[in-house]
Amino acid sequence: MEDLRVDADRLRASIEVSSAIGGTENNGVQRCAATDEDKRMRDVFAEWVRELGCELRIDEMGNMFAIRPGRNRRLGAVMAGSHLDTQKPGGRFDGILGALGALEAMRSINDADIELERDFIVVNWTNEEGGWFPPACMGSGVWTGSISKEWAYERKDRDGKTVFGEELARIGYKGSFPCDHRKWNIEAAYELHIEQGPILWNMKQRIGAPKGILCLHWYDVHLEGTANQVGPTPMEGRNDALLAFSEMCQTVNKTAHQMGNMVATVGEVQNYPNSRNIIPCRVHFTVDIRSWDDKHALQAWELMRREFEIIAKRLGCRIRSEEFWKVEHATFDQELVDLVLESARELGIGGRRMVSGAGHDMSEINKVTRGAMIFVPSIEGRSHVEAENTSWDDCARGTDVLLRCILKMSQRGR
Ligand code: GLV
Ligand code: MN
Ligand code: MN
Repeated sequence: MEDLRVDADRLRASIEVSSAIGGTENNGVQRCAATDEDKRMRDVFAEWVRELGCELRIDEMGNMFAIRPGRNRRLGAVMAGSHLDTQKPGGRFDGILGALGALEAMRSINDADIELERDFIVVNWTNEEGGWFPPACMGSGVWTGSISKEWAYERKDRDGKTVFGEELARIGYKGSFPCDHRKWNIEAAYELHIEQGPILWNMKQRIGAPKGILCLHWYDVHLEGTANQVGPTPMEGRNDALLAFSEMCQTVNKTAHQMGNMVATVGEVQNYPNSRNIIPCRVHFTVDIRSWDDKHALQAWELMRREFEIIAKRLGCRIRSEEFWKVEHATFDQELVDLVLESARELGIGGRRMVSGAGHDMSEINKVTRGAMIFVPSIEGRSHVEAENTSWDDCARGTDVLLRCILKMSQRGR
């Protein structure tokens, strides 16, 4: 068992199958949750689970759980996984490495004919990205009780045309098992993931063991000005909503720089009527604020909001802002984090402690069980883009560390 390694070629082949489902011209993947591409990937995943002889459980949010029974079923299970949906468009590894890496770990344990003490569960969480149906971490958020199933079902796509619950049913993945963590007995959860930032890549380190995940605060801002003909309308006295937005966008950036220990981003903007010869009368934009310190992030929002009000007043625009979604920072379980570093050391890989700037399902899972993550380098620190890349060797190394953590945890009695 000590010498057990995953099959790197099989892992790569599985990721390559995934890369072709919703694959883009620029080597990325576009496979948003509850779309036809998501269905095709889920069908493949389900087939792979069946080949392993595992029970596949699909819950009301479409979360998919492959369950491999252990010797002592009264003990809490060890869970590992991530998500198979992507940004619009996204890369080949974000989430996918964690879900297919966990599957590869299960395949390797099966091949070695090992009976684990605890159940081992591989999970594909629904709509981690929220790239088409915001917010992110929807499947895991309902599972932990952070958001309600009904609210999640009612979410509209970014164009406001389709409804999440209906689309999930349409692709055949609105399951019947209750989406509720209290129906499960989980002792520990691991998520293998690409780092999505530049730290491991720049430091030439192979494994990262985050102590936790930054908080994620999401806001919506709506501006209303006055549309008019651009030619005859003098520059003075205009109520240009896009001009107000442009100052607010600067405010977001400036506030994050001035306050430090945080990042803040305007990622989405809609401008109406979006015509070159009409003064913009309506703008919607989003603000994403992240920090290890939730209070600090809230203070930043307060400052931004006050400055937004001043800008809006000066330019004669009406403003409405609201919180859309909030996840507090997550602190991982110390024993599980240490196990990542210990496993990496034993495998001769080495690793470093860090924090996760990206949000993950583990922000949610960690609320109801003990959790930790394993990071591998993102080439040039790029992610949420089609160019996102991680070497196959790093994919295999990270999955070996995951496998070792699963083996160790599943033998630990409690
Ligand atoms: C999730 O992908 C995030 O926004 O960090
Ligand atoms: Mn992810
Ligand atoms: Mn992502």
